[in-house]
Amino acid sequence: MSTIANDEIDDSIKRLGIRHDVSLKKLNTFGFDARAEYFATAQNDQHLVELLEYSRAKEWPVFVLGGGSNLVLTRDISGLVLCLGSQEINYARQPDGSIHVTAGAGVNWHALVMDTLDRGHTGLENLSLIPGTVGAAPVQNIGAYGVELVDRIVSLRAWHQPTRQFRTLNRVDCKFAYRDSLFKRERGDWIVVSVKFTIGGATTLVTTYASLAERLLHQNVSEVPTSRAVSQAVIAIRQERLPNPETLGNAGSFFHNPIVTSAQFSRLVKANDGLVGNTMRDGRVKIAAGWLIDRLGYRGYRRGDVGVHEQQALVLVNHGKGTSEQLLTLVAEIQGAVREAYAIKLTVEPLVV
Ligand code: EPU
Repeated sequence: MSTIANDEIDDSIKRLGIRHDVSLKKLNTFGFDARAEYFATAQNDQHLVELLEYSRAKEWPVFVLGGGSNLVLTRDISGLVLCLGSQEINYARQPDGSIHVTAGAGVNWHALVMDTLDRGHTGLENLSLIPGTVGAAPVQNIGAYGVELVDRIVSLRAWHQPTRQFRTLNRVDCKFAYRDSLFKRERGDWIVVSVKFTIGGATTLVTTYASLAERLLHQNVSEVPTSRAVSQAVIAIRQERLPNPETLGNAGSFFHNPIVTSAQFSRLVKANDGLVGNTMRDGRVKIAAGWLIDRLGYRGYRRGDVGVHEQQALVLVNHGKGTSEQLLTLVAEIQGAVREAYAIKLTVEPLVV
């Protein structure tokens, strides 16, 4: 770890709001204990550029942290841990009646969804209650209950580290795929500073996801539910099935849902009665990894202070004093059991650092 001697801690550090040796325990939703050598929050574009220039001069690596809700911290981070602070949300009505909403990277994702619903705009309701920030959302192309970020994004603005300039990327440029994007593939090269979405106008509600459709029926919602009703249904499902990181450490789904060909899926269904799979637009099938893990008896399993969530086998949890090492041991065990039982390789969804 490169450190700066006390007498060298210059005015720039103070002026840029850089703090030394900062605990990240409260900044990752697993609640793992790790520290940042240096830590700062960029409040605007100019501040961001100055922080990056300063880090370059000091030869600090830069690690961008969003809500820490898709992250497994296994070690202290050397160099600068950088958060994005921008809290701006701007609305612009388009000639076709739709709305473009642009939000700064530091905006809490769920707060953005609620703001759009408060203004009566349809579009982001299925993505209610997803933890994290707007800036992190495109990195893994967040998705839930039948809608992915790619379905609503227009463009985003990002700093490109290799060329040291701001760039605007449209939806196609971002190379989105299931829980994937250019920013994930070229991690470290991009810092998302704001994201523009299209909502309202002719945007229609998506209520076909099985558990959502069921919940809307159960809620006695009329044939055409409102965006608010869909949001409330999504929130209710999430609160029942997914642990609240404030009370139980977790990073949402821990594994990707594996994607197989329809022929492979047919073979798997024959051997595994009741196996759940969703056919994708390209004909391949996304298998519910939670079902696979559940069937092997892991739902609710606990090993020391880490385990598998009782209501959702795809979610791994830290009961309080668990360590990332214990968690990764459990991960390997589950991956091994799934490989042996179904010949399927489960890949880890959160970033492991
Ligand atoms: N299932 C089980 N047992 C379990 C868990 C799930 O049998 O323990 C079955 C369910 O009964 C259901 C199916 O598996 O039939 C799918 O479950 P669910 O609807 O909960 O969704 P998921 O595939 O487990 C994915 C996303 C979630 C997202 C939900 C809803 C991934 C990796 N995860 O989970 O995203 O909220 O769909 O759309 O794609 C996240 O990425 O962190 C996340 C929470």
